[in-house]
Amino acid sequence: MNILKIFNVSEDRIQKIFASANVAKKRDDCCYHPITEIAKGRFLANLFFEPSTRTRLSFDVAMKSLGGEVITVGKQNSSVQKGESLNDTLMTVAQYADAIVLRTSENINPDNFENIPIPIINAGDGDGEHPTQALIDLYTIRNYFKEHFSILFLGDLKYGRTIHSLIQLLSRYDCKIYHRCPDNRKLPIGLRGLSEDAESNWATRIFPDVDVVYCTREQTERVADMTSGYRVPGYRTFYGLYDKQPNILKEDAIVMHPFPRGGEIPKHWDQDHRAKYFEQAKNGVYVRIGILMDVLEIECPV
Ligand code: CP
Repeated sequence: MNILKIFNVSEDRIQKIFASANVAKKRDDCCYHPITEIAKGRFLANLFFEPSTRTRLSFDVAMKSLGGEVITVGKQNSSVQKGESLNDTLMTVAQYADAIVLRTSENINPDNFENIPIPIINAGDGDGEHPTQALIDLYTIRNYFKEHFSILFLGDLKYGRTIHSLIQLLSRYDCKIYHRCPDNRKLPIGLRGLSEDAESNWATRIFPDVDVVYCTREQTERVADMTSGYRVPGYRTFYGLYDKQPNILKEDAIVMHPFPRGGEIPKHWDQDHRAKYFEQAKNGVYVRIGILMDVLEIECPV
């Protein structure tokens, strides 16, 4: 089964994915190896038509951790460069692999993939969604807050695809969602109403009490002409932790970021016990192990 939009990932599936992720994490923590060969002979195709560090490498590690193989192609070295359609590319790759991980710079329409006979996992489509990142983010939050938590999204909510998926996912649960963004980087219309504007005094009003602070960089690559004044002046100061003092944030709060970061979280936060963005990246492997087991229909052995 595909994972293209977070809306279509049921609660039962999420529980199963997280259960498999927990087994993978336990294996890492205590040299316990129940799942190392269960994808032997299976192939994952990583199709990345836009740059990636975390998503590509963590899917790679996840598949290899299960004993499977990974084949990879990018835009520059594929026949997309010669004008081949995405559908023809996917149908061709489906002859070689058991599942596809797909990142595109354009937004995808799931209806266009109905003829593809193997599961497709959306690894980030344009300014659309990033559903597997949302699952990683929820998994990371749940390690600290099981329920009744509050979260503040900061930054470029218009183009931040990780937030588009995560805000929809969180709206299913008992949590209070705030946001703060520049006027020209508001959430897409369909997602407004899922969160409350923290307003310009967020740093004194919401920041000291919130459980989760979720920052994003300015997604400059989504704007064709960044010289036209569309860039946000003072982004890292007004929509990041650049000048925010760690002692204002609650001791048991957590700071998250899907990365890559710009200057919105300065390096000195990395030593703070509440900074969880590298833990998020590590959880990427565990959760993507769970996702691969789900789409490849591999039962968890414990
Ligand atoms: N979080 C994320 O999608 O990072 P990459 O672009 O490096 O994959």
